[in-house]
Amino acid sequence: MTRIDHKTAIVTGAGNGIGRAIALAFAGAGANVVVSDVLADDGERTVREITDGGGEAFFVAADVSDAQQVEDMVAAAVGRYGGLDILANNAGIGGGKLRLHEIEPEDFDRVISVNLRGTFLCSKYAIPHFLAQRDGRIVNTASTYGLIGAPNAAAYCASKGAIINLTRQLAVDYGPDGIRVNAVCPGYIDTHLGRRGPQLTKEEFDAATAVREKAAGMQPLRRQGQPAEVGEVVLFLASDAASFMTGSIVAVDGGCVTTFNYGEASN
Ligand SMILES: NC(=O)c1ccc[n+]([C@@H]2O[C@H](COP(=O)([O-])OP(=O)(O)OC[C@H]3O[C@@H](n4cnc5c(N)ncnc54)[C@H](O)[C@@H]3O)[C@@H](O)[C@H]2O)c1
Repeated sequence: MTRIDHKTAIVTGAGNGIGRAIALAFAGAGANVVVSDVLADDGERTVREITDGGGEAFFVAADVSDAQQVEDMVAAAVGRYGGLDILANNAGIGGGKLRLHEIEPEDFDRVISVNLRGTFLCSKYAIPHFLAQRDGRIVNTASTYGLIGAPNAAAYCASKGAIINLTRQLAVDYGPDGIRVNAVCPGYIDTHLGRRGPQLTKEEFDAATAVREKAAGMQPLRRQGQPAEVGEVVLFLASDAASFMTGSIVAVDGGCVTTFNYGEASN
């Protein structure tokens, strides 16, 4: 069983979905988990799940696109646990279902700001702690939509493609310092990504869910993945079991990117 006992790990976007699953996997493997999210109630709920199960965690509210909030979040993690070993850059948002000419500039900027700038900022403030101990592990949550083009998702695809090459670039820069940087590319995972909050009616939510299920049903494993199936891979990449892996881009996608068939798929 993969263990990361006594390591301190920050997980962003850990209030829900894949981030919550990463946080639970890390805590189950013995880590001190810093659960971070913009949604305080959701983040606190993840903390309660961990602590009720005998694990160690605390919540820090932070918007990953805000430099000051991220700097404060990293400082809070180090202040609480005395160091930092692992960063899971997971927080992300969808970009709506639009072709590029239909996207408002501020909406494009928001997707890049959360997904890409958020990954940059959290890494920026975590890396000095990794450099000081000549050990650190970053796992970025990219997407299959960063590996290939996909329908009506220009901002999201651009942000995730950038995260993939940033992962490789960081592996080059920081490998000599003992810092490993890898990324997972989830395929269709059963979360509320892009359908969170009041922006969709129940009918729209159900319709979007049906499209996702249909799209996932065309992929080799014929189903959506569960968040825990991504969490386990992120745990592996963050652990010593992956000690010779850096710059790796790992699809966790039920075989999505092995096929041409996107049918009516969209995010
Ligand atoms: N669900 C999928 O099918 C899928 C596929 C590929 C990649 N991903 C990626 O996985 C990651 C997690 O997505 P999910 O599916 O779990 O979505 P989700 O909406 O269930 O969870 C995302 C979490 O991130 C938080 N968040 C959003 N903006 C934030 C910000 N600015 N700062 C801090 N936290 C913020 C949300 O509050 C939420 O708790 C994202 O990066 C997403 O792009 C998801």
